[in-house]
Amino acid sequence: MSRGRFITFEGPDGSGKSTQIRLLGGYLMKKGIDVVYTREPGGTRIGEKIRYIILDPENSEMDPLTEAMLYAASRAQHVAEVIRPALYEGRTVLCDRYIDSSIAYQGYGRGLGEIVSCVNDLAVGGLGPDLTIFIDIAPASCFERIGRSDGDRIESEDITYHEAVYKGYLRLAADHPDRVRRVDGSRDVRAVRDDIRTIVDLMDWDGII
Ligand code: TYD
Repeated sequence: MSRGRFITFEGPDGSGKSTQIRLLGGYLMKKGIDVVYTREPGGTRIGEKIRYIILDPENSEMDPLTEAMLYAASRAQHVAEVIRPALYEGRTVLCDRYIDSSIAYQGYGRGLGEIVSCVNDLAVGGLGPDLTIFIDIAPASCFERIGRSDGDRIESEDITYHEAVYKGYLRLAADHPDRVRRVDGSRDVRAVRDDIRTIVDLMDWDGII
């Protein structure tokens, strides 16, 4: 049996990723593709505990390196327990955020740079997505969509931080044009959905369908 496809979704907070993942999952299932949905940070019992520590607004003294390593620790468990087994069973994994989030939020947002890729390579043993959908929407528009007053520890960072994260995403899209596919997220849900379907239909599904 051929290994399943690994598709990740990336973008600023409030970019509409979760809605689009569900829509794509339904579309793929109708084609007979066996889909697993998951998310980061979290996706496992241990990962959800780590997620709680990372996002708790009370943990305001958290050092950026601690933050990056906690995301990577959650990811290591997620890969070992959920993602790798599913892929080897021939299932297609749709994951809400993955290493690119760490590169954007910790690498660019917190200014940790290259360290983030090193820590994550170690955490996942080199397992990378086949395709990444980057829902491109400027942070200022996301701020308007979701508001910030009661956000988690990352969401409630100021606009300067979120602009740096966004810059990171643009850089990632430019550096990996074959893997990271940009979709204009400022349009209505159906337009975004249709673009994603077109991109995914063009993927190599050999051995899967
Ligand atoms: P979540 O509620 O899942 O946000 P969203 O629905 O926008 O994906 O919270 C995850 C937060 O953690 C989000 O602000 C992005 C941030 N994050 C990182 O900073 N680094 C990472 O590696 C990941 C996976 C998420």
